Amino acid sequence: ATDNSKLSQGNNVTKDGATIGSGEDEPRGGDKLEGAGSAQGDALHLQRRVGLLSGVALIVGTMIGSGIFVSPTGLLVRTGSVGMSLIIWIACGLLSLLGALAYAELGTMNTSSGAEYAYFMDAYGPLPAFLFSWVSTLVLKPSQMAIICLSFAKYAVEAFVTECDPPVTVVKLVAVMAILIILFINCYSVNLATSVMNVFTAAKLIAVMVVVVGGMYKLVQGNTQNMENMFEGTTYSIGNIATAFYTGLWAYDGWNNLNYVTEEIKNPSKNLPRSIVIAIPLVTVCYVLMNISYLAVMSPVEMTESEAVAVTFGNRILGFMAWLMPLSVTISTFGSAHGTLFAAGRLCFAASREGHLLNILSYVHIRRMTPAPGLIFHSLIAIAMVLSGTIDSLIDFFSFTAWIFYGGAMLALIVMRFTRPNFPRPYKVPIIIPFIVLGISLYLIVAPIIDTPQIEYLYATFFILAGFIFYIPFVYYGFTTIAMEKFTVFCQLLFEVAPTQSIYE
Ligand code: ARG
Repeated sequence: ATDNSKLSQGNNVTKDGATIGSGEDEPRGGDKLEGAGSAQGDALHLQRRVGLLSGVALIVGTMIGSGIFVSPTGLLVRTGSVGMSLIIWIACGLLSLLGALAYAELGTMNTSSGAEYAYFMDAYGPLPAFLFSWVSTLVLKPSQMAIICLSFAKYAVEAFVTECDPPVTVVKLVAVMAILIILFINCYSVNLATSVMNVFTAAKLIAVMVVVVGGMYKLVQGNTQNMENMFEGTTYSIGNIATAFYTGLWAYDGWNNLNYVTEEIKNPSKNLPRSIVIAIPLVTVCYVLMNISYLAVMSPVEMTESEAVAVTFGNRILGFMAWLMPLSVTISTFGSAHGTLFAAGRLCFAASREGHLLNILSYVHIRRMTPAPGLIFHSLIAIAMVLSGTIDSLIDFFSFTAWIFYGGAMLALIVMRFTRPNFPRPYKVPIIIPFIVLGISLYLIVAPIIDTPQIEYLYATFFILAGFIFYIPFVYYGFTTIAMEKFTVFCQLLFEVAPTQSIYE
């Protein structure tokens, strides 16, 4: 039965009677939240359930998805040589680490969920923050989800059809099913979601170990011929290198994932930087070792001809256990999609809480304490993207726009060093780091446009601008209609969700 008193607007008591901080001088979303259980307040909020282990799992589990099992081919083609591709793999790992260190400062300074959204709000104000949430919730996050679930489905279906290519409709349906299962887990409980994340992350690390140990065994046996003359054939075109970076960076994407859920991390000022410093080097080492393993088993030419290097690898050396590799890819992609939705739900939650998206999206389930409406909304868009199947063009759109925002976050850090010099910063990054990452993101945004101008880049720019037109009536002037209000109440009753309190008021 529905508890109507809890569904009314405003004051809602959580099970433990805790409150959300709206701190005047204090850092936003601040450690006040840690007083959960002290029965001092009356607002509904998400609870702190992510510890160090889950934090690491949330980063590692999202970063390791489909990329490392498939992208080595693309990187090799684009760089032309083994040596150069290894350099790019390492460089992408370093770039992710530097970016994430800067995010650690941002995330410990402003501990409210929503990552870039929260930092843009502090550094530049509501309009840029709105534009970010507009693009992210409508396109970026759902497209990540769609891309990963499609790879999941491809490998899951391939296990059953051996004679021909997997039929497209079946792949799409399986992808949709995956989204629905992930959605259910995420709406059901945060504890279940983090446990699933931990189990899948452990499983995929085992898969990584299998590849690494297999490859090292081959190397010790003396299969080092593919490592000789490593730099033969390197291409030095600036545009090629930038697109090679895009391929590699897709495999590393997700390095900022923990910043989306800061409000749910236990002791964020310690656990956020620690998780980052453990997780990203771990992933980088795994990726580099895996690439070396692939090369111990196949030549660069064979690698460029393979559709999925990990599967070819398995067929070569795992014998009757070769099925292990496609299975690992499905486990890995499922876990990554799960982490992506987990974070996306929080972004939607954080932005709509400030009135930047439909109000209903910021509501939290009154018993399960999950941001169910935001999660459902994201999943619906992701399903639409899976079904419409324009994923290839979305990948270009994705990297381009994502790096505009990563760069924006670096600039936000630099700006706030001047505008808020005395704000508490439990972790302070050397200022040179955001400058370096900002420079590289500018290069990543501009180089591909100059090298191969594509219409997608223009679409992306138009889409961002379209947000502007939306902003003025609906956000700035807060235009609503009776119908919209009725819809909100209807959804509230249907999903048993209730509002949380803004942290910017
Ligand atoms: N790195 C992942 C992969 O290789 C994709 C992660 C998607 N990005 C994200 N922020 N969830 O498949």
